[in-house]
Amino acid sequence: MSQAKIPTGCNRLDRFLSGGISSGNVTLLYGEPETGKTTMALQCAVNCSRRGYKTLYVDCDGSFSAQRLSQIAMEDFDRVAELIILMKPASFREQGSVIDQLPDLVSKNFGLVVFDTLSSLYTLSVAETPNKTFDLNRELNRQTATLAQVARTLKVAIAFISQVHSVLDAPYVSVQPVATRVLKFWADSIISMQPTGNLQLLKLVVEKVPDKAKLDKPATFAVKIDEHGIHDHIEH
Ligand SMILES: Nc1ncnc2c1ncn2[C@@H]1O[C@H](COP(=O)(O)OP(=O)(O)OP(=O)(O)O)[C@@H](O)[C@H]1O
Ligand SMILES: [Mg+2]
Repeated sequence: MSQAKIPTGCNRLDRFLSGGISSGNVTLLYGEPETGKTTMALQCAVNCSRRGYKTLYVDCDGSFSAQRLSQIAMEDFDRVAELIILMKPASFREQGSVIDQLPDLVSKNFGLVVFDTLSSLYTLSVAETPNKTFDLNRELNRQTATLAQVARTLKVAIAFISQVHSVLDAPYVSVQPVATRVLKFWADSIISMQPTGNLQLLKLVVEKVPDKAKLDKPATFAVKIDEHGIHDHIEH
């Protein structure tokens, strides 16, 4: 897929992204639990399928749900689902092998690769073997750098998700800032998703986009999330 865009389905966000997430680029979606990150990634996968391209959906935290996919794809579910290939690495090491095998896994007709959540198996490994934190950090950096390179060489869009917790959440304090820093370093686009106190509304902060002319400082706006996904919030 060359130079094509995959719309996220949020028109306001798509305008900052000049139409959607791009082949050749990596996009980071990050935020606290339940802020619509998976929903947004599924929406991109659905829109990629609707354009006739396949998606490799790497489900690293077991959160993929065919039911949620069908709510978002609606009447297109059957043809959309056919073009979504699911992989579920069981460990941080396995995730690394999936990334190393991407040039073989992602053949011509792929438009999108999603890693949901790229940092979850890393976080688990650090918790299990804290004495290996240095090596694990280096491996996370290697995996993310490889993704950025693969996006460019294979001309696919790659979206990765990172979950963050408030700094008061003790077990995550030491590893999450590291993971977020590594993922942000390699991302061409960075979108932060935040809760608002109203379950139907989310706050999106567009922190970085490939076309610098589109964004001189982070842009913040509300979007609504419901059964059919995430869309522009029209204020009355
Ligand atoms: N069928 C639905 N109808 C309405 N809202 C829904 C529906 N399914 C999910 N949601 C909303 O989406 C939110 C969770 O979305 P999603 O799973 O995409 O979040 P996430 O950021 O990926 O969460 P996590 O960090 O736990 O993986 C829920 O809090 C809920 O508000
Ligand atoms: Mg999720």
